[in-house]
Amino acid sequence: MNGRIVVEELTKTFKKGNVRAVKNVSFQVEEGEFFAFLGPNGAGKSTTVQILTTLINATSGKVEVAGHDVIRQPEQVRQYIGVALQETGVDPDLTGREMVELQAYIFGFNKEEGKKRAQTLLEIVKLTEAAERRIGSYSGGMRRRLDLALTLVNEPKILFLDEPTTGLDPSSRMAIWEELRRLNKENGTTIFLTTQYLEEADSLADRIGIINKGEMVAMGSPKELKAQIGHDLITITLKEMGRVEEAAGVLRKQVADIDVISRNDQILIYVEEGTKQLLEVIRIFDNDDIGITDIQLSSPTLDDIFLKLTSEPMEGVKTHGE
Ligand SMILES: Nc1ncnc2c1ncn2[C@@H]1O[C@H](COP(=O)(O)OP(=O)(O)O)[C@@H](O)[C@H]1O
Ligand SMILES: [Mg+2]
Repeated sequence: MNGRIVVEELTKTFKKGNVRAVKNVSFQVEEGEFFAFLGPNGAGKSTTVQILTTLINATSGKVEVAGHDVIRQPEQVRQYIGVALQETGVDPDLTGREMVELQAYIFGFNKEEGKKRAQTLLEIVKLTEAAERRIGSYSGGMRRRLDLALTLVNEPKILFLDEPTTGLDPSSRMAIWEELRRLNKENGTTIFLTTQYLEEADSLADRIGIINKGEMVAMGSPKELKAQIGHDLITITLKEMGRVEEAAGVLRKQVADIDVISRNDQILIYVEEGTKQLLEVIRIFDNDDIGITDIQLSSPTLDDIFLKLTSEPMEGVKTHGE
């Protein structure tokens, strides 16, 4: 049970500005699971991570991490977890090796063991060549890899990572992904990762919780989430951008139980049987003289789920391509 997370009706209100950052959120993460907490900037991800890792207190609700209550038994919780926060306070004047060794001593390693552990971890995160350089001279990717090494010092059962790849170049991001997958598969480490990147959650996680404005809006495996919104997606691009709303309205009126969303110059239609309804849609538009330049039939992506759940493109949710 030491790799498990249980969150029940968690709420956090910051007195400053009376911000309700987390609203009545409940979920569980099983031992050995790779869980992604996905949401845009300001959604409440970091606040949740800080509560789960005993750094701040919840306003209400119950949180158990590694079998211990985060409020009543924070020391026990800390024994089992590793935490890489969004804002890290490392001393830029230390070298990478000194920093990892220092972390090992903090966790009770003696001098010899600490040096050995630091060497092993620097190899794992591929920082041996840069180990003797000052941290202040490290690139963003190197800093994140160093953060990861620091969190692994005590061989945590549960690893919390708050946006570990935000702002990284693709090769650094891949290196982190590879290491997280390995830790999860080979060591059975439970991973709680927050991200703004849809494809990161899709590619890494067993299960995804989607948080928006402090509320959990969806939860499930990537496959389950995609299935929630129908099997097929019809995307139609119109000749005249200005008629998108009108066209969506026509469909809503003429087809029962149709799920239509307009986005820029496109209309998105979620359906069970794409090919069948495709023909109906074309016929309706033809009757109403609504010109079409492109039609595509596809399976929904996580991006489409955001749209569906929030009825608006999730502001701030990025893809790495942007
Ligand atoms: N210490 C704080 N005091 C007041 N408001 C805060 C504090 N920390 C976060 N917030 C607010 O809580 C909300 C959630 O923030 P955060 O958990 O950092 O979101 P995320 O990590 O998903 O970007 C935001 O509106 C943010 O401005
Ligand atoms: Mg954050």
